[in-house]
Amino acid sequence: MDERAQIEQLRAELHRHNYQYYVLNQPEISDFEFDQMMRQLQDLELKHPELADPNSPTQRVGSDLSHEFRQVVHQRPMLSLANTYNRDEVREWYERVSEGLSGQPFQVCCEMKFDGLSISLHYQHGRLVSAVTRGDGIQGDDVTENVRTIRTIPLILPADANYPDEFEIRGEVLMPWESFEALNRERAEAEEPLFANPRNAASGTLKSKNSAVVAQRRLDAYLYYLLGDNIPGESHYDNLQIAHQWGFKIGPQMRLVDTLDEIYQYIDYWDVERKNLPVATDGIVLKVNSLAQQRSLGLTAKSPRWAIAYKFMAERQSTILREVTFQVGRTGAITPVANMDPIQLSGTVVRRATLNNEDFIRNLDLHIGDRVYVEKGGEIIPKIVDVDVEARDEHLGPRVSFITHCPECGTQLVRYEGEAAHYCPNDSACPPQLKGRIEHFISRKAMNIDSLGPETVAEYFRRGIIRDPADLYEIRREQISGARGQKDKSSSRILQGIQQSTNVPFERVLYALGIRFVGETAAKTLARYFKSIDRLASASLDELLQVNGIGAVIAQSIRTWFSNAQNQWLVERLRSYGLQMELSEDELSQHSDKLQGLSIVISGVFAHHSRDEYKALIERHGGKNVGSISAKTSFILAGENMGPAKLEKANKLGIRIVNEDEFLKMIE
Ligand code: IVH
Repeated sequence: MDERAQIEQLRAELHRHNYQYYVLNQPEISDFEFDQMMRQLQDLELKHPELADPNSPTQRVGSDLSHEFRQVVHQRPMLSLANTYNRDEVREWYERVSEGLSGQPFQVCCEMKFDGLSISLHYQHGRLVSAVTRGDGIQGDDVTENVRTIRTIPLILPADANYPDEFEIRGEVLMPWESFEALNRERAEAEEPLFANPRNAASGTLKSKNSAVVAQRRLDAYLYYLLGDNIPGESHYDNLQIAHQWGFKIGPQMRLVDTLDEIYQYIDYWDVERKNLPVATDGIVLKVNSLAQQRSLGLTAKSPRWAIAYKFMAERQSTILREVTFQVGRTGAITPVANMDPIQLSGTVVRRATLNNEDFIRNLDLHIGDRVYVEKGGEIIPKIVDVDVEARDEHLGPRVSFITHCPECGTQLVRYEGEAAHYCPNDSACPPQLKGRIEHFISRKAMNIDSLGPETVAEYFRRGIIRDPADLYEIRREQISGARGQKDKSSSRILQGIQQSTNVPFERVLYALGIRFVGETAAKTLARYFKSIDRLASASLDELLQVNGIGAVIAQSIRTWFSNAQNQWLVERLRSYGLQMELSEDELSQHSDKLQGLSIVISGVFAHHSRDEYKALIERHGGKNVGSISAKTSFILAGENMGPAKLEKANKLGIRIVNEDEFLKMIE
């Protein structure tokens, strides 16, 4: 291929990956591969200035603009950092800096490169006035409302802190590993698509139109750059230490060093230790510390000369692909799974990796016997990222093809328009779908029948005792108990667990039905809105769309589910066994709109109820429990020992403090 064609191809590919990454939040290649391609293109463009194009992907650094937010032009453009994966280039940068400073001594501040999304925060007179995403570096989305829910970002600075009237501070919004894993667990249960990594999850969350969702998801933020006309310190390090005193969270890993050797030591140390950090990092950032020296080094068109990012390679290993198997999920979705020779990856043995879907396999041109590269970076499920085409020899097996029929029931698979996945449409008889629905039904957050486990379900299913959730309530003791007393005991426990589940409240029964896209939260919302299954079943699409938090996908799925005769029959049978198909009198009487429209902060320690109980009470009466005090807070429900900072803030804003007894009276 001549170089002109190569340039064109790289541009087209990079444009596409840019879109996948920034707009869809669905990267298909690793950062490393993306950066490699970008470099290759940069090199070729340098060689061929006659082929320059202002629209080339090298001319912009990606945009995460979405059109639902007001767009704001940055007061100072948000540059990106030059980056490298190569230690020699770190040395070259160090030497360039030294040369640029005519041999003057200089210090370098080493920090973690946090893998989230960058944010610019503006403060005026000690108050947060705006929070804007990076966007294309020139303008970004105004996400102030959402950012206000992030607890580690101060909204009002302490009165005694000596901050300038106006300043900007930049940093990274992140979703800690723990929150990310919990979120994906919930999404898996609700059959919602999983976030690929904490960065996507943080970005998806920050762009959410509903700031309550943001508040729930526990984002965090580390700040790493203070800007403004009157900032206090003369070095980057000092400024961040001061900002820390003002209440900002700063990466505690930050170190000042005097030599290149120390930089390498820092890199070596954190390349290993970063795995123990609560948030994702993808490299190290090196910054010349003195602001005067930074100014004298200056900027290139895209990035400062005084800083560089050294990026870590995602942990990647190669192994041999032995077989591809296909799994059928509870919704009938087919997942192709690579079975490989075992390898050690990020501390665990990996034998299997997801292959996503047919297009993914086709794009890799995957063959049995191929040497494949497996990565487990931010992702929980290992994935195949590449194939070593050059390692192919005469032992190469056949090309992997996608199946046409369900491996479990033989039904011809379907692929719905616009979806990447194949489905087995035989939802009324395909065994893993039936079994999956029962497993979901008994799961902890659904009916919580913990006397039954997946193995027992599998056994009963195999023996033909159960085929759907309602069959559980028809199990007779003699069907499941053996001759021995011990087994009798366990069958009693099982039967008792099933019987007890008839007390499970309606909202969880609704979730247990396993209606696609109706997760725990949607089930709760629907139960409270419609109050009974009959009202929900007869709701029109329009009525469903009226409900806050219910969008077109969920609404349509509910309509489809209830229009199926088999599902209607299932509901009737479950009802006849005594399951809760409406809100109980108790729940109904416990609901009111006494706190409708109010934002309430809970603080301190309580005598009558726990904080969680108060939170539930607030929601039950139509109020909203919010995490931090702002001008919009209606009142503070305060127990003993309310934090002094909160108290001061409340006083400053003139927000009413309500004690436990007063609150209980309010909702009486
Ligand atoms: S400094 C002009 N420091 O990496 C320098 N950036 O491509 C501005 N990042 O967009 C950035 N950790 O989102 C800096 N400790 C750190 C960082 C960091 C992560 C991100 C930031 C930026 C990107 C650079």
